[in-house]
Amino acid sequence: MIRKRVGILISGQGSNMEALIRATEAPDCNYEVAVVISNRPDAAGLDRAKTLGVPVLAVDHAPFGKDREAHERALDAALRRSGCEYVALAGYMRLLTPFLVEAWAGRMVNIHPSLLPKYPGLDTHRRAIEGGEVEHGCSVHLVTIGVDEGPVIAQAKIPVEAGDSPETLAARVLVAEHQLYPAALSGYVASPT
Ligand code: GRF
Repeated sequence: MIRKRVGILISGQGSNMEALIRATEAPDCNYEVAVVISNRPDAAGLDRAKTLGVPVLAVDHAPFGKDREAHERALDAALRRSGCEYVALAGYMRLLTPFLVEAWAGRMVNIHPSLLPKYPGLDTHRRAIEGGEVEHGCSVHLVTIGVDEGPVIAQAKIPVEAGDSPETLAARVLVAEHQLYPAALSGYVASPT
């Protein structure tokens, strides 16, 4: 089996990134992590990835100012230099322009902490509680131009418990994310749509 080469984009702590990397220890995993790239040079996830033996890069968005596409061209070049065939967003906190979305159409996935199409955007856990949901969870989806609107590849559901705060709910969803994302990515790269 030839593993597909995946680049992971992060902005922060990178717990999903770590789960994606650790899953490659399983012999039946269909991907390998070619590079981890952060738009924030101080992202804690960069050190985590380095410790796990994965090449890392910072492509800081700050010097590009308002030119988001120029930043994405630098990201795209770095992904291609690393031989990436797929891109996994893992807590990458920048809105994408059509340039990067179209460059990786059908080959870029994201994890979102809600049962899409419910609760796209930020602050999903509080909104799910306030919405009276009895079930919440996470979704892995293809990235398209509309934020959190791409086709869903896989979901994991968890019950909302009486007395849940956004923080307690988020912590349980995060555990589900760490299980769902590697399995969904491995399955997707083996037979992409
Ligand atoms: C996760 O909740 C993910 O669903 C969302 O951003 C968060 C990233 O967390 N897209 P981490 O950096 O992977 O720990």
